[in-house]
Amino acid sequence: MKKIIVTGALGQIGSELVEKLRNTYGVDNILATDIRKIESDQGPFEVLDVTDGKRMHEMAHDFGADTMIHMAALLSATAEKNPVFAWNLNMGGLMNALEVARELNLQFFTPSSIGAFGPSTPKDNTPQDTLQRPTTMYGVNKVAGELLCDYYYTRFGLDTRGVRFPGLISYATPPGGGTTDYAVDIYYKAIEEGRYTSYIAEGTYMDMMYMPDALQAIVDLMEADSSKLIHRNAFNISAMSFEPSQIAAEIKKHMPTFDMSYEVDPVRQAIADSWPNAIDSTAAVNEWGFKAQYNLEKMTIDMLEKLQLRLEKKIII
Ligand code: SER
Repeated sequence: MKKIIVTGALGQIGSELVEKLRNTYGVDNILATDIRKIESDQGPFEVLDVTDGKRMHEMAHDFGADTMIHMAALLSATAEKNPVFAWNLNMGGLMNALEVARELNLQFFTPSSIGAFGPSTPKDNTPQDTLQRPTTMYGVNKVAGELLCDYYYTRFGLDTRGVRFPGLISYATPPGGGTTDYAVDIYYKAIEEGRYTSYIAEGTYMDMMYMPDALQAIVDLMEADSSKLIHRNAFNISAMSFEPSQIAAEIKKHMPTFDMSYEVDPVRQAIADSWPNAIDSTAAVNEWGFKAQYNLEKMTIDMLEKLQLRLEKKIII
């Protein structure tokens, strides 16, 4: 990876990924794009609507990109609110991105998700290759996306790569409209209000990962020796699996008065119930050395510390 165009660069993953890529490959080698505009002097930035394939091609071409990291997409809960829009954005954007990558011969990354699994998927130690019959629009998009990336590899020889991300937790950019967002919100509310009302029911296990591990996984997979990749797209990766009362108990260790109650949101609960409890990351470990540094305990210490600093700073400003 030398010259990388990133779509969805202001999103939950994109905003931190761009910073990491700029630190790794040099500021001028990363073109950040998003449908929203920001005033930034941090590095090259362009406004891009990913449903505009022609503009995407021009931008990647003019920048001299050799790699595309396509992050622009709607998350699960938002996609359920507007399924047609989600299809058009998630699939239209991905098709455009793959076509631009094919035309310009770019190495290509796009994320899939635990959302690519459904109620008939084995819930525990979910295998890399297994039943995928998701019941959400987001999941339908993700499975179709995985297949499209495989197709572009086998049909055109495009160097496509991808992972199935679990819920991602970060103190920097809040997620927007996902089902796993509770595991981020809980830290904010713990610091701001000392209590949290969970929209996910007690006992609902989902896979999660701290953002630094997710960013490192993208870089490691993109740098991996192609000949070692048996799977190319949609590697299962997870760092931890927990349910709401376990993350609450972990926070309580540092904030003994922290209190959690439940007010379950049926839409997001149904989505969570259709996803695995814990996926098996063995293929990623064996084929490109995936390794997560953070478990629930270590992540909680870091989240509370960093978020505390950030929120205090916000108040002072
Ligand atoms: N974090 C995502 C969501 O909840 C899952 O990929 O939608």
